[in-house]
Amino acid sequence: MLAICPNPTIDRLVSLDRLVPGTVDRVRENRAYPAGKSVSAARGSLANAAVPAVHVLLPTTGSGWYLDTLRAEGMDVTAHPYPGNVRESVIVLEDGGRVTVLNGPGAPVTADIWDGFVAAVTAAITPGEWVICSGSFPPGVGPDALAAFVADVAAAGGRLALDTGPVWMPFALAGPVQPALITPNLAEAEAILTGETALESTAVGADALDRAAGSAAGLHARGIDAVVVTAGSAGLAWATADGDGRLPGQDVVVRNPIGAGDAFLGGLVARLEAGSTFAQAARWGMATSCAAIEQWSPGGAPSDRVVHFHDLIAPG
Ligand SMILES: Nc1ncnc2c1ncn2[C@@H]1O[C@H](COP(=O)(O)OP(=O)(O)OP(=O)(O)O)[C@@H](O)[C@H]1O
Ligand SMILES: [Mg+2]
Repeated sequence: MLAICPNPTIDRLVSLDRLVPGTVDRVRENRAYPAGKSVSAARGSLANAAVPAVHVLLPTTGSGWYLDTLRAEGMDVTAHPYPGNVRESVIVLEDGGRVTVLNGPGAPVTADIWDGFVAAVTAAITPGEWVICSGSFPPGVGPDALAAFVADVAAAGGRLALDTGPVWMPFALAGPVQPALITPNLAEAEAILTGETALESTAVGADALDRAAGSAAGLHARGIDAVVVTAGSAGLAWATADGDGRLPGQDVVVRNPIGAGDAFLGGLVARLEAGSTFAQAARWGMATSCAAIEQWSPGGAPSDRVVHFHDLIAPG
C-alpha cells in the first residue's frame, strides 16, 4: 500500500490550562510531530502491521528534521522536494477538552511540480494495491488537477482511499472516475451532500450515528464503492456494495483527538489490504482511532492498545 501526502505539516501541540486570546501566556508543554493527514494515516497502518510506502511532496526548508523523525519511527518515506518552507499547524489543547487548530498554508506549487509529483507516485503503484490520500492540497492545485489525480491513480491500478475536506472533495468527485473509498467525518459528509461548507466542529449530537449512516448511504448512492462516515465520539457508519453497518463509539480518555479519522483510515486500509472483510476492517480501524487519541502522536497507536480496543468493540 501507498500513502500520498501532498501537503505535509509539522503538528505543534500546545497543552495549557485555558487559552485566553489576546494575552501572553506560558504553556505547560510543547510537542512537535511530523504530520500531514496521510502521514498520520500511515501511523495507523503501522499499528496494524502494514508498512505503507509514504510519498511526501515536501518543501525543502525544514525537511531534514521532518524526514529524520519519520524514518526513526520506522516509516518508509520518499520525499519529493520542491522549494519552500514546511508548513506548521498549531494545536491548542486545553484542560477542559477544548481544541483549537490553526493550520498554516502549504508552500505553493506550480503545475509542473504537481504533475511531476503525480507522475512519480502513480509510477510507484502496483496494480490492485490501496493508495491512501488524506488531508489538504497545497496552493496551486486546482479543481481540474484533483479530478485528474483521482483518474490517474485509478489508471495506474491503485484503489484510492481519499479523505479530503469539503474545499477539495467536490472537485475530486466531479470527474468520470470515483475513488474506491472515502472516509469523511459527519460535518464533511453533510457538506459534500448539501454543497454547503460548514465550519469544522467536534460537537456531536444524539442523532449523529443515524446521520452518519444516512450520509454514507447518500454518498455511496452517488457511485462511490465504499463510504465510511465517522462521527467522533458517536462512532461511525459505512455503506458499501457488500452492505452497510455501524459501530457506536467507545469510551476513550482522549489526549490528542487530532488524527482520529486518519488513524481510522490507516487501520481500515491496512486490514482491507490484508484480506479482512469491510466489517472486520472497520472494527480494526475504529480500534486504531481509539488507541491513537489516547496518546500524543497524530495517528500513532501502540499495537497492544489497538488489540485492546478491538476486543471491546462488538462487530457491526
Ligand atoms: N472523543 C472520542 N471518543 C471516542 N472515540 C473517538 C473520539 N473521537 C474520535 N473517536 C473515534 O475516531 C473515529 C474518527 O473520529 P472523527 O470522526 O473525529 O474523525 P475526524 O474528524 O476525521 O478526525 P481528524 O480529521 O482529526 O483525523 C470515530 O469514528 C471514533 O471511532
Ligand atoms: Mg478527518
